[in-house]
Amino acid sequence: PEFRHPEFRHFMLKEIYEQPDVVRACLEKYLNLDWTQNRTSESPIHLGLPASFYNGLAEIHIVACGTSLHASLVGQYWLEQLAGIPTRVRYASEFPDHPFPLTPNTLTIAVTQSGETADTLKALTFEQQRRSQLTPACRPRLLGLTNQPNSTLQQRVDHILHAPSEQEVGVAATKSFVAQLIVFYTLALDLACRRQMLSSDRLDILLREVERLPEKISQILAATDAIAQLAKELVDTQDFIFLARGINYPIALEGALKLKETSYIHAEGYAAGEFLHGPIAILDEQVTVVAIAMPGQVYDKTLANLQKVKSRGARLIAITTPVNSEAAALFDSLLPIPDVDELLSPILTVIPLQLLAYYITVYRGLDVDRPRGLTKSLSAE
Ligand code: AGP
Repeated sequence: PEFRHPEFRHFMLKEIYEQPDVVRACLEKYLNLDWTQNRTSESPIHLGLPASFYNGLAEIHIVACGTSLHASLVGQYWLEQLAGIPTRVRYASEFPDHPFPLTPNTLTIAVTQSGETADTLKALTFEQQRRSQLTPACRPRLLGLTNQPNSTLQQRVDHILHAPSEQEVGVAATKSFVAQLIVFYTLALDLACRRQMLSSDRLDILLREVERLPEKISQILAATDAIAQLAKELVDTQDFIFLARGINYPIALEGALKLKETSYIHAEGYAAGEFLHGPIAILDEQVTVVAIAMPGQVYDKTLANLQKVKSRGARLIAITTPVNSEAAALFDSLLPIPDVDELLSPILTVIPLQLLAYYITVYRGLDVDRPRGLTKSLSAE
């Protein structure tokens, strides 16, 4: 495809801006919006999976690479905290050499945007082969989650969940990630309903919140100028640290990956509490810290961690809702996020991080859609 889009300067920017529509498409596909008024089924989610899929499910194992792995880590949080199912995530490239124990009644999910990533397909084949001769409870149960349903992945799995995001041209995954998140969220919600893990009031709140996401993403996109301005100030920064706790920790990893793969700037993501156990020593005035500090159960702990970061002299940028003056005093810059239930916050907090990576890269004069030495999918191990 032509690497210049008429309305947007680059595909990456166009794809970031498509995210409200991508979320709408995913919700239309899997969520029964009338369900709250007319509860005719066990769950408001219709994933098109047979009843046998749900039978006796005891554990979930996930293999993926890169951004798909980060989506899987958020998925793990939802599957464990909403549906109560023990869930483990491993890099697909590590899995054959360090597989999970052979637990019974286990669903293995392979997550891949392209459906063609060699490491992920190999991990699946490995799992399929080592389980196929075992007792029925330990036989392979394989699910693929992908943005390309007609890819090689579908030939290797029993069931497929499509994350509809249409073609993504930019090498840096953006809208495909958000689509994967929505699919993980609907899967977790579906399992939570079937296992009666949620009160009906909590379920209503979680359904209403997810329906409002497209509008809230649009609000963040409407404030892009402030992010572009900040990116201009940061264009010569050599080191970035991304910090968050809890459900936003994988978004810190994703923010760092987006920045390093497009701009070639050194960036690392850490769990904010863990960062104090050694890595904090690298901080000085030259380092910029981007912290996700969303109100919710980890908010106070995150602010306490960030006080320590601030005392080392690092520049501190917060991804947060408009905050009280005490917290605002801590941050050098603030990228505001609309109010949202903490459980759904990763779907919003990733947006400014994508934009920050995009603008810093463009201001550095680099080809944001085609970073050096990278391809859209890695078909070799
Ligand atoms: C994402 O921005 C990267 N380009 C890369 O990490 C990618 O997510 C990874 O290679 C996995 O690709 P997949 O989702 O197609 O399997």
